[in-house]
Amino acid sequence: MSAFWSIWISIITLGVIVGVTWLLFATRKSEKFKETTEETVGHSFDGIEEYDNPLPKWWFNMFLITVVFALGYLALYPGLGNFKGLLGWTSTNQWEKEMAHAEQVYKPVFAKYAALSIEELNQPGNENGLKMGQRMFANNCSVCHGVGGVGAYGFPNLTDDDWLYGGSPETIVQTLINGRQGGMPAFAATLGEDGVQDVSHYVRSLSGQDHDVAAADRGQATFNSVCAACHMPTGEGMQALGAPNLTDNVWLYGGDFAQIAHTIRAGRAGVMPAQKDLLSEDKIQLIAAYVYSFSK
Ligand code: HEC
Ligand code: HEC
Repeated sequence: MSAFWSIWISIITLGVIVGVTWLLFATRKSEKFKETTEETVGHSFDGIEEYDNPLPKWWFNMFLITVVFALGYLALYPGLGNFKGLLGWTSTNQWEKEMAHAEQVYKPVFAKYAALSIEELNQPGNENGLKMGQRMFANNCSVCHGVGGVGAYGFPNLTDDDWLYGGSPETIVQTLINGRQGGMPAFAATLGEDGVQDVSHYVRSLSGQDHDVAAADRGQATFNSVCAACHMPTGEGMQALGAPNLTDNVWLYGGDFAQIAHTIRAGRAGVMPAQKDLLSEDKIQLIAAYVYSFSK
């Protein structure tokens, strides 16, 4: 803030306080402070009239206290333009202090679990660690993966023991630390609409769903030459690439014909955001243990 605005704000703030104090004293009827009279101020609203009496003393004193409080507050805390206040308080340093305090309080709690592996955290006796993981999951993950990790369209279900990238403790931790980016290329240009339809029938056949047999036969050749590189010749997928298993009737984007054809035509690129800059290692460990517990 420039010096001009700082002074401007300070003058107005202090001016208002001085002004109301002056008004308070100026209208105080000191000569008849103690006596009450039957005199009225002379106007009436709907038959209600007002006595012309001084302010009660307690009320007057409370007014003075608020003025003193305001001046004290402005001396101690930031309020007058650029003046930082005698205590040097800022919302940032308060936040930092609270964070440092929380770190001190919770660090030993996390440290207790950091020494354990994810399998060990899932053994009886460490339920509190998993509960901490559960709460952090609710805060950080359930926006996308749903309450309890059941997933949604485009966001994988984490409870079904069917994994894009793998469900071992190490893989889950890797997924959380570095994030994941699904890369299903678009094939509309390479295959043409007929080619997309044929291979969609073939994909439907892989999971035993209704399909056009002749179209699926034509699609199989395409699948073997174009898709098998990632989804494997059997269609069972490849976790190193995050290419889903197409034979198990568990779908990220839906297994009806229209969704499958859309996936193949336009491609897909689901993004799991990396957590390494958002959550500490200790926290990731507990969340991963919680995720691991779903399918165990
Ligand atoms: C912004 C949405 C979003 C948030 C937040 C998010 N995820 Fe994900 N996550 C995804 C998407 C999308 C995928 C699938 C990526 C893909 O399609 O390749 C995914 C994939 C995963 C996988 C891999 C699943 C598999 O089958 O291999 C795990 C495990 C996972 N997330 C756990 C978590 C956890 C734990 C958190 C909280 C720390 C979290 N995610 C937060 C969107 C999100
Ligand atoms: C470069 C590797 C790659 C190739 C080639 C590839 N895919 Fe994929 N496919 C993926 C990945 C990775 C995903 C997951 C995308 C995501 O997580 O967002 C995917 C997703 C899909 C899905 C969605 C599955 C679901 O659960 O919703 C279908 C269907 C699919 N692919 C079919 C095909 C077909 C058919 C072909 C050949 C025409 C093909 N893919 C070629 C990597 C590939």
